[in-house]
Amino acid sequence: MAATASTRSSTETADAGERERLRKTLWFAPNETLALSTYAKDLFKNYSGIAEEDIFAHIIQVREKAWNVHPYPCIGSFRFLDFAILESPAYQTVVEKLRSGGKYLDMGCCFAQDLRALAYAGVPSENLYGADLRPTFIQLSYDLFNDKHKLRSTFFHGNVFDLSSFRKVSGDQSDPSLFGELVGKVDIISARSFLHVFGAEDEFRAACQMAQILSSSNGSMIIGRQVGSTKPGLNSISLRKSEPVFRHNVETWKAFWTRVGEETNTQWDVYSRMIDIAPEVKLSVRQAESRDIEDRAWLEFVVTRI
Ligand SMILES: C[S@@+](CC[C@H](N)C(=O)[O-])C[C@H]1O[C@@H](n2cnc3c(N)ncnc32)[C@H](O)[C@@H]1O
Repeated sequence: MAATASTRSSTETADAGERERLRKTLWFAPNETLALSTYAKDLFKNYSGIAEEDIFAHIIQVREKAWNVHPYPCIGSFRFLDFAILESPAYQTVVEKLRSGGKYLDMGCCFAQDLRALAYAGVPSENLYGADLRPTFIQLSYDLFNDKHKLRSTFFHGNVFDLSSFRKVSGDQSDPSLFGELVGKVDIISARSFLHVFGAEDEFRAACQMAQILSSSNGSMIIGRQVGSTKPGLNSISLRKSEPVFRHNVETWKAFWTRVGEETNTQWDVYSRMIDIAPEVKLSVRQAESRDIEDRAWLEFVVTRI
């Protein structure tokens, strides 16, 4: 599909005033609420080589820098420390595909924490790719995981609505063909908390772009989780000045991919399930957005090309 979509909702800006306003909401969890899972602690110790007593301060200072790049709720609320891919129903399949040479692209990767979980699990890191609009997030991801010296993955910065815009973050940055070589060859795209940042129409266009990046082989897949709703529909986000987003449930998500299929001449098997958002996260969302969000849940998905 031609890259025609607007970049309106993907290039939202947040000035210093807005960052500070959002900091006062509960989107920005106080430093002392940082609670690391045992898995995350092990990863920071054994993969990143950070002494246990330094992990807390290290994460806090990188989060601060990332918040100043763009105040995404997933940064403010420490969601980048959930290694959600470990809970994906496709996790074992993903690991097996990557061990046998498959390629994985984390689209809208920010800290690319799931990519690090895969590297920590021992898949060849050269089979892992990440891409984000904001190159600083990718530099900060190297800082967070302290792995620039050893990670053999390739990161690009660019806009999903224009596949020719992607450039390598380090090394040869001039050659647009490097991302072009990936287009049509990726076996797994992770779209974690990615499509839900766009207004409804741009969400659709971004999904069509991903269908183009993905390999046309049966079994290639788009996995992830994003904010959904048991009462699907358009939802304006009080914290941003962009177009209303569409919060999906299992049925609307299936219909969404039928529409992507019609647009891109592709077919998809769509598995999804709703997962409760942890009560403490829900509480902070409710207070930050000042509205009832009882219907809000994670929509976990595995969308497989058939
Ligand atoms: C809500 S964050 C999710 C980050 C990460 N996937 C996670 O689950 O923690 C959305 C990410 O998408 C990136 N992004 C937004 N618009 C984009 C675009 N048009 N093209 C590529 N990346 C984009 C943002 O910079 C940000 O890092």
